[in-house]
Amino acid sequence: MIKSQIWNRKHLLGMADLSREEIISILDTAASFREVNRRDIKKVPTLRGKTVINLFYENSTRTRTSFELAGKRMSADVINMSVASSSVKKGETLIDTLANLEAMNPDVVVVRHSESGAQEFLAKNLDAAIINAGDGSHEHPTQALLDLLTIDNHLALMGWESFEGLTVAICGDVLHSRVARSNAIGLATMGANIRFVGPPTLMPSQVEEAFGVRVFHNMEEGVRGADVVMMLRLQQERMTGAFLPSVREYYEFWGLNHERLALAAPKAIVMHPGPMNRGVEITSKVADDPNQSVILEQVANGLAIRMAVLYRLCGVEG
Ligand code: CP
Repeated sequence: MIKSQIWNRKHLLGMADLSREEIISILDTAASFREVNRRDIKKVPTLRGKTVINLFYENSTRTRTSFELAGKRMSADVINMSVASSSVKKGETLIDTLANLEAMNPDVVVVRHSESGAQEFLAKNLDAAIINAGDGSHEHPTQALLDLLTIDNHLALMGWESFEGLTVAICGDVLHSRVARSNAIGLATMGANIRFVGPPTLMPSQVEEAFGVRVFHNMEEGVRGADVVMMLRLQQERMTGAFLPSVREYYEFWGLNHERLALAAPKAIVMHPGPMNRGVEITSKVADDPNQSVILEQVANGLAIRMAVLYRLCGVEG
């Protein structure tokens, strides 16, 4: 991987904004923070005096916890605002909530929201640096960055020198997935071949043109020869109509088991952003496979990526 330190952005709103050089810059920075996370004393003074606010309007385990830990490992003051016990419950709007938090002069506000474009709106109307921790079905850029870092770590083992030529099958509920969108954009920027694999009811329209991907409506064909099989969570909470006959039938046609995984490249890795629906989009045997599943490695890399992103957005140059 080429070493690069290019980063001039105030906000991180989406992978669509990032150049190849900027992505490489974040991956390189994250690689050095991963080393910090392996030490006995996992704390550095890098962001002493900086303030990070986590504002999550949707549930989260991995993203919220890793942003909190990322800030704390770098000695920033980190505030987790609980939306459930905040004045949001009294009807305070998103922009008013952010304006009031901004009055306390934070350096970065990490926002997850159910509305696509919410963070872009905040970035345009407020002064604080905004990180998009997931907006509706639109983007989840730090997830894509941690996924790119995880794939990058395995490139040589899979027989590749770079992302150029690598085939990544992104499988399942593409329609509702901000992870699929951000990954497709980031992987395309890095030169990978991308497949979207899933039922027509869970596939956005005109997706080939929009994302430069190949679409497969058959799981066996979609994973055949793939270097990376990235499973997506079936997001039933975002489904208002009849998207699938039943969860059992979904597993029969789209669930990743070892028989289907055997069709992928021999050293293929299996990814999932979490939380997983075990027995729905992936079997426990595949999810916990010590040789091919890198799902917990993704989580560890998420911490390093969020440290790198906070570091870059706080304007501290190395
Ligand atoms: N992958 C992901 O965003 O997980 P959380 O919803 O737990 O943050």
